[in-house]
Amino acid sequence: MKKVLEAKNLNKYFHIPVDFHVLKDINLTVRSGEFSAIVGPSGSGKSTLLYVLSSLDREYEGDVFFGDVELKTLSNKKLAHLRNKSIGFIFQFHYLLADFTSLDNVMLPGLKLGDLTHEELEEKAMQKLDLLGIADQASKRVNRLSGGQQQRVSIARALINEPQIIFCDEPTGNLDSKNARIVYDMLKNLTREFDQTILMVTHDDSYLSEIDRQIKLLDGKILDRQT
Ligand SMILES: Nc1ncnc2c1ncn2[C@@H]1O[C@H](COP(=O)(O)OP(=O)(O)OP(=O)(O)O)[C@@H](O)[C@H]1O
Ligand SMILES: [Mg+2]
Repeated sequence: MKKVLEAKNLNKYFHIPVDFHVLKDINLTVRSGEFSAIVGPSGSGKSTLLYVLSSLDREYEGDVFFGDVELKTLSNKKLAHLRNKSIGFIFQFHYLLADFTSLDNVMLPGLKLGDLTHEELEEKAMQKLDLLGIADQASKRVNRLSGGQQQRVSIARALINEPQIIFCDEPTGNLDSKNARIVYDMLKNLTREFDQTILMVTHDDSYLSEIDRQIKLLDGKILDRQT
């Protein structure tokens, strides 16, 4: 399977309030269509690793390749384009624009990319909402949706530009178990039906047996070296 992402000899330090070696010699490869989870105790470096791998944090040593391109070689402009076009993000809190409709929120990254006409984009956004089972919520403002529906809107938004990879940081962390199950099943379905690559940080071990691969972090190191 095609490599989507690769980290080589990745190290990261924080310097405030004290020097702290947070990621220690991380080597890992993510391949197309994989549903992988980064797991480990609180404070082990999961979110920090996800932010570096997903290009949100550029302060690291070593290499992070997105396809064949090392992220640090990209200008800010090229990086912003790569993020918008090729990377989807889903966080614990959805960061949707509360006063806008579901449809507007899903269309936004597509408008920014500018590859489609407004009509084409609207149609595509409706397809994504439909895929997530919330087409009937398209014209509602997102602050009128339930937490589970809001998280499904944020998945639709992450999908709109057909990213090569979706990064999730505790995507079910703010949901009750029923909604967590729905969101989790939808993420899994994206990997199975559409060959979507997903790398997810999670605390929730009730689903881990169904995930392709666990990347276990402890004190900033990957356990049982997996590449
Ligand atoms: N901006 C920062 N400056 C200094 N230290 C930080 C910073 N962000 C995180 N840390 C520290 O780095 C370590 C890893 O943090 P990180 O947020 O990656 O953990 P995590 O595995 O995601 O934990 P959790 O499961 O609680 O979300 C922790 O000890 C944390 O206190
Ligand atoms: Mg975290």
